[in-house]
Amino acid sequence: MSVYERPWFADHEEIVFATDPAAGLRAIIAVHDTSPFGMAGGGCRVWPYEREQDAIDDVLRLSHAMSYKLALANLPAGGAKMIVIREPERPKDEALLLAIGRAVHRLSGRFIVGSDVGTNDADMEIIGRETPYVSRKKAGGDSARATAYGVFLALRWGARQHLGRDGLEGLGVAIQGVGRVGSILGEYLREAGARLIISDVDAATAERVGAELGAEVVSVDAILDADVDVFAPCALGNVIDDAAIERLHARVICGGANNPLVDEALAAELARREILFVPDFVSNLGGVIGASPASAGTDLDAFLRPVERVVEVLDEANTLAKEAGVDLHAAATRLANTKLDARKAR
Ligand code: NAI
Repeated sequence: MSVYERPWFADHEEIVFATDPAAGLRAIIAVHDTSPFGMAGGGCRVWPYEREQDAIDDVLRLSHAMSYKLALANLPAGGAKMIVIREPERPKDEALLLAIGRAVHRLSGRFIVGSDVGTNDADMEIIGRETPYVSRKKAGGDSARATAYGVFLALRWGARQHLGRDGLEGLGVAIQGVGRVGSILGEYLREAGARLIISDVDAATAERVGAELGAEVVSVDAILDADVDVFAPCALGNVIDDAAIERLHARVICGGANNPLVDEALAAELARREILFVPDFVSNLGGVIGASPASAGTDLDAFLRPVERVVEVLDEANTLAKEAGVDLHAAATRLANTKLDARKAR
């Protein structure tokens, strides 16, 4: 099937296949929309995709979601994403990172790269040796913290709206994936008195974070059966399908992972079952806010304050949902599309 016919193509402005055999680089940069700013931002994911087609689908879907996020955050850039198909036996070394930098630079500033799964702030420093078009860690904090804080605010909002909870004391939360975002989310939730159950494919990470948070650690598969109020997907996408919905006990789904639903249509099925699905492109909005040059923030409080935009967007989407008689996901999608259309019309 051609790229143009993929379900997530969504009229992408530009898709670049970048290679550098000596450095082991095979990458795809998808620029969804730069209008009217002439530039787009998104993270660089380095992952050992088994099939090239999976990488193409992922980059298109993630870049489209970035356009939603940047528009909802009122930030002056469109959405994009970079995927590097990592060769399993090859390390992510300096040569690869520099090749990523050169690939980004060839787009002459139409794409600003930041970190995502498989890359971190230290990698951005190396990439930044080849290009100025890179989002670096800010003085006040890093984007994973801003993401986790936004997810925490969204989760608290969801618990209040849907479960009638004023506080999170005793609330059961299952966190799937306790890397950068999941572990910091766990810290916020522990401070708020939540009861945590966690899992991670990396057993050592799961044990370490479990001990730090005083959380129960369960297997990667068992997390779906956890007896909790909230399910927080904080690993990769495509984790919620029909079978997972049958197993989940949670009444609220709210996490940091992009595209947790295998199919967007499942949002309506969750609503039918009276499970509140907080749209991922709203709950993890903190990431783009934290990566934005506008949110430098000299201390952590100043850095995190703009992330409260997450709650404003949820309130707006909720009002629209009630007026239009649609679920929260559908309302947030409408809001984002309205903002994108307005940007294109400028
Ligand atoms: P990370 O790579 O630091 O953490 C992901 C964790 O998930 C790792 O510990 C990994 O071992 C684990 N994992 C992978 N597959 C798993 C599975 N099937 N079950 C359980 N654990 C699994 O990545 P990070 O930065 O924490 O991102 C997590 C999610 O949040 C990703 O989907 C990312 O796209 C999204 N996100 C991250 C942002 C950021 O600023 N870091 C911003 C917005 C979204």
